[in-house]
Amino acid sequence: MTSPRTSSAAKAVSPASAGPDNSNGAMQSIMHELRQFAPPVDFAVRAHVKSFKEYERLYHQSIDNPEKFWGEQADRLHWFKKWDRVLEWNLPDAKWFVGGKTNLCYNCVDRQVADGLGDKLAIVWEGEPMREGQPPEVRRLTYRDLQRETAKFANVLKSKGVKKGDRVTLYMPMVPELAIAVLACARIGAPHSVIFGGFSANAIKDRVEDAQSTILITADGGFRRGKPVPLKDTVDEALSMTNLVKTVIVYQRTENPVKMTPAPGRDHWWHDLMRDASDQCPCEPMDSEDLLFILYTSGTTGKPKGIMHTTGGYMVHTYLTSRYVFDLHEEDPSELYWCTADVGWITGHSYIIYGVLPNRVPTFMYEGAPNSPGPDRFWDIIERHKITKFYTAPTAIRAFMKWGDEHPGKHDLSSLKVLGTVGEPINPEAWMWYQKHIGGDRCPIVDTWWQTETGGHMITPIPGATTTTPGSCTRPFFGIDAAIVSKDGQEMPPNAGGFLVIRKPWPSMLRGIWGDRERFVKTYWAEIPGFYFAGDGARRDPEGNFWVMGRVDDVINVSGHRLGTAEVESALVSHPAVAESAVVGMPHEIKGTGIAAFVTLKAGQKPSEALKEELIQHVGKEIGAIAKPDQIRFTDALPKTRSGKIMRRLLRELAHGGEVQGDTTTLEDLSVLANLRQSEEA
Ligand code: WT7
Repeated sequence: MTSPRTSSAAKAVSPASAGPDNSNGAMQSIMHELRQFAPPVDFAVRAHVKSFKEYERLYHQSIDNPEKFWGEQADRLHWFKKWDRVLEWNLPDAKWFVGGKTNLCYNCVDRQVADGLGDKLAIVWEGEPMREGQPPEVRRLTYRDLQRETAKFANVLKSKGVKKGDRVTLYMPMVPELAIAVLACARIGAPHSVIFGGFSANAIKDRVEDAQSTILITADGGFRRGKPVPLKDTVDEALSMTNLVKTVIVYQRTENPVKMTPAPGRDHWWHDLMRDASDQCPCEPMDSEDLLFILYTSGTTGKPKGIMHTTGGYMVHTYLTSRYVFDLHEEDPSELYWCTADVGWITGHSYIIYGVLPNRVPTFMYEGAPNSPGPDRFWDIIERHKITKFYTAPTAIRAFMKWGDEHPGKHDLSSLKVLGTVGEPINPEAWMWYQKHIGGDRCPIVDTWWQTETGGHMITPIPGATTTTPGSCTRPFFGIDAAIVSKDGQEMPPNAGGFLVIRKPWPSMLRGIWGDRERFVKTYWAEIPGFYFAGDGARRDPEGNFWVMGRVDDVINVSGHRLGTAEVESALVSHPAVAESAVVGMPHEIKGTGIAAFVTLKAGQKPSEALKEELIQHVGKEIGAIAKPDQIRFTDALPKTRSGKIMRRLLRELAHGGEVQGDTTTLEDLSVLANLRQSEEA
């Protein structure tokens, strides 16, 4: 691929000039929906935090003396060597548990075996059937199984020359081997870079090159709706564009035929290498601040950022939030926690693997679609496996609502105790439906606000303690000093909208952007000097609850997945017919925010339905299916201010179904509007 990776339309927007992309209407709805739900009394009795008073007491302790609070929490986990200092803070650089040595794989796996829990379940997995008509495949792995498998795969990695600090790229389906590979990397201190299996060959190539990764783990495919998704073919295509990768390890999941030797000696079957690997591989004592992983996420320019997370602080934060926010009880043998995210996103990293396993509660993994073979797939799983804690995204809930109440209605969901949501603001209607139809009006709902960069939960109810209001993510977690401020850092009065910032360091905060110090400082620490700037607009109500309104930068949240509008613009202008493009969010019933693309064509190109479809497919191929525009609008020119800045607010208005009807937007329409709005946008 030789297309330009930055777009003519790609320009960072300062928060002052952009409004929150409040496409899903959460804000509108709160005006008429302010019902409150106190934590159910019978739940609170056995919860870790039993009352709001207790939450407040702990919260104040954690803010007044963070080092004491986090030090005590870290003490619950295993350290090869204890830290000298809990925190060293030189804005914007935080070091947590300085001088401490630990290992995340040890705390997820070996610690349980060492404490006599080797036979306890660690992972329960269900996948789609290998062949139509067969029952779904189920696998159960104990901590001992995980210890053996992660040790073996760690030895495989070593045998391929992987050393501490080397980046290992993973592009895998949602099978237990993905968790095994992730943990094996942590075991030997090789940072992983997991790429979501829906990303394109170009996306793989960009990430492999950025991370300078020479080894890639993949599979022949993964199942979705009964069909294998050909992951290895996509890897082959990606690696035909770079010769950086010297070793590819292929897990056999499907019977999808794959080519194994495009380059001699490069490709190996997982099972061949595992057959003779030793199951002895001690966990490498890692410095608390050693890199644990890189995870790429979208920003305001065309190039995704490699968010860096390190070992000790990330471990303690994800462990503790998992414990409190999902109220995990290791002593309860019925406990089975399920997060429906893919491990390829931060939610999967933190709340399928790293935060959950140290809590000694089994984590459920699912491979497949939520509506295959039927729209009751999730409810059927919850009933059969007796899931106790369930964590999903608002976009999924809106889809369930649409599919109909009868699907959850025919299943016994009485095992459920806590319901969580993540990824985007939840509209109160979806919240109420979730509470009634899935939670049986019995389960506390935790609406968790956080980001790839924050590593773990930041603002969230604590079940048993927090009174919830549909649409609000409520209160900061322990140790989190969140605030709503103006551009100059002044705290806003109640109900006034502003920028969501974090004023003090927290253990799982990002430590940087891989290879781009300047962008790290500029993106997160320069917008509002002294504070971490999250990129979200929000307000706080008079009771102190947070309401997140949406992004204030050129990032849109599509089905709970973050996309930079500039990325989609780059993909569009890399098509030979396209001269210029501007992408904005638009309301979408299921996705929350859909993608609207305004496109001007090169001379001689004619707008047509066929070209629209071609452009949509082109974006899918350039980035991945999640980035496909929902709407393409051809236009003769893009509305710009006198200084040449694209008038995004105007385009957003149009995309929100504003003044212009039909799919083709003419320059006349735009220039009239542009003249009207010139003063506002400038
Ligand atoms: C952005 C982060 C955190 C894992 C999934 C997404 C939005 C996330 C909420 C929530 C309102 C939310 C924000 C944030 N967001 N959770 N509970 N309420 N908005 O991670 O891709 O890093 O995206 O998702 O806009 O900045 P991500």
